[in-house]
Amino acid sequence: MPEASPTPRERSRVRRAVALAVIGLVGLVVAVMIARWWRETDAGGVFLAQYPGSVAPPAGTPTGFPAWLSWTHALNAFFLLFIVSSALHLRAGTRPPAFVTRRNRWPRTAGAPKRLGLHTWWHLVVVTLWVATGLVYVTLLLVSGHWARIVPTEWSVIPNAISAGVQYLSLDWPAHTSWAYYNALQVLFYGATVFLAAPVALVTGLRLSPVWPDRWMRNHGPLSDAWARRTHSLVLWFYLAFTVVHVGLVLLTGARRNLNAMYLGIDDGESWLGAIVFAVSVVVMAAAWVLLRPPAQITIAERVADVRRMPVAPR
Ligand code: HEM
Ligand code: HEM
Repeated sequence: MPEASPTPRERSRVRRAVALAVIGLVGLVVAVMIARWWRETDAGGVFLAQYPGSVAPPAGTPTGFPAWLSWTHALNAFFLLFIVSSALHLRAGTRPPAFVTRRNRWPRTAGAPKRLGLHTWWHLVVVTLWVATGLVYVTLLLVSGHWARIVPTEWSVIPNAISAGVQYLSLDWPAHTSWAYYNALQVLFYGATVFLAAPVALVTGLRLSPVWPDRWMRNHGPLSDAWARRTHSLVLWFYLAFTVVHVGLVLLTGARRNLNAMYLGIDDGESWLGAIVFAVSVVVMAAAWVLLRPPAQITIAERVADVRRMPVAPR
């Protein structure tokens, strides 16, 4: 059957995406040139000498990467893959291939359970596992004292983060001290990812839940459905942008040392073992993504809930 030609709307979308990519690339090249020039000025030199880009955490903060951190970090990436793919379906408003209704056994509710589209149901299943992993990670972070590696404890983190940003932009990387402590920009972004973006996703996601009584609904303002949906979607763009830059920098700034630290908990810049473990984790994620597509999600849903499959739309 011949391929349908793109509609004018699709064509203008592609043109807009290409224009944005070109503008972004040109902006990046200009920013790199400005950063390299500024580093060489007297003012730039004095600033970088005063604020080298990192702030040592309080005495007694543990160093290194314990096994629980490796596991929870890998599981986080695994679950986010499915959260993001179901989220993209939800945003696009694609017709769910099935509807899922919880069997009203446990917890038993007075009203009949709501019917959920497959993408919403799958989003909530994976999100539950993601939040459970996050709770384990945050508990261990607090108990072990590792929290001080990703939460700023001094205001000087701000000029130091600017300094680290200039060093990254000038392509002359900041000193690599991750085993002992992260640089100030990493502290701010890792801290925001864990203690800001995830709670915002949780609170706005719970607000989007269909369980709330209609009298709690608001049409305008910070408690409205539209506001929660917009804020919830912002988290998606934050996670996507963060992941692209984060993984890019992990690979560019000493991939072997970084991957050995995060995936094996060893301080080693030579061994390829961490890179191999990371590559295996990517293969596992890709395989799981292929295996757990909507037909498999429907099979899982049928084991625990009532499922109504929708007829396939004619092409
Ligand atoms: C933390 C726990 C989370 C909960 C409880 C939650 C819950 C929800 C709910 C109830 C919906 C509405 C589904 C519907 O309209 O049928 C939704 C939609 C969505 N979720 Fe989540 N979610 C969570 C985490 C996340 C995360 C981490 C991301 C991004 C990485 C994300 C991205 C989205 C997007 C983009 C939508 C579609 C919004 C739209 O309709 O424009 N969610 N989520
Ligand atoms: C799958 C690809 C990923 C790789 C290869 C990777 C790699 C790493 C590495 C090597 C570190 C240590 C940083 C350093 O040594 O300088 C790290 C830390 C971190 N990563 Fe990732 N990462 C990935 C995905 C993600 C995703 C998707 C998120 C969340 C959206 C994330 C959040 C974090 C956080 C919060 C830390 C700091 C953790 C702590 O020390 O408590 N990473 N990552």
